[in-house]
Amino acid sequence: MKKEINGVLMNVPEHVAIIMDGNGRWAKKRHMPRNYGHAAGSRIVETIVRDAYELGIRYLTVYAFSTENWSRPESEVKALMKLLESYLTDCIAKAKKNNMRVRVIGDISRLNPKIQALIRELEEVSKDLDGIQFTIALNYGGRDEIVRAVRKLCADVRDGNLEESGIDEKRFSAYLDTFDMPDPELLIRTSGEQRISNYLLWQLAYSEMYFTDVLWPDFNREEMIRAIEFYNGRNRRFGGV
Ligand code: FPP
Repeated sequence: MKKEINGVLMNVPEHVAIIMDGNGRWAKKRHMPRNYGHAAGSRIVETIVRDAYELGIRYLTVYAFSTENWSRPESEVKALMKLLESYLTDCIAKAKKNNMRVRVIGDISRLNPKIQALIRELEEVSKDLDGIQFTIALNYGGRDEIVRAVRKLCADVRDGNLEESGIDEKRFSAYLDTFDMPDPELLIRTSGEQRISNYLLWQLAYSEMYFTDVLWPDFNREEMIRAIEFYNGRNRRFGGV
């Protein structure tokens, strides 16, 4: 989408994916426990989704809990789950006001039943909202997603619903958790790390990648605009719009 931002006509990516990193370091800088950073990081999520919508982004996908995050100390995993629970509850109340359709990707079967029920409720109450699609990756891993897709695909071949010769990239994408969204044109990772960390492995094949030293709890609208400017610069460099 073309949109004027700060007086400049920009090409706004349709789908932005974010790795929200640096909560722990943000807390450490303040001599506070890591969970204090996670709480601050979760508080800014709602504002960022609203900013993204206002800037013209149609799909925003955030990495909230990876398949690897289970190996963190039990108290940290517990705190993250509590934050997610209260975030999901809040989202159910605010989805309509923020005009956002919320989806969760990842293997939710390992999450506690209460969180699973909240996810189902949130997806149900927001399914017809069409402002922005906000996707939360929860117990998500790119490799795990591909393996789960392969299992579903094999079952369809076995049951005669799919011919082996009919499998191509487009057909395979339809078995991924992201079956109903376009691939992200832009990935943002905060906190200075420059890795994909098993995030959207298939979907990020052609995405531009923007790495910033800003820690996630300090991320804001201006930082998002900087990322969009970077995306525009890259496009120009390769002769695009
Ligand atoms: C990385 O910081 C962040 C996470 C592992 C979790 C991200 C979760 C949130 C922002 C809160 C909950 C999410 C939602 C959608 C409400 P880190 O702990 O790896 O930071 P560090 O690298 O500085 O230690």
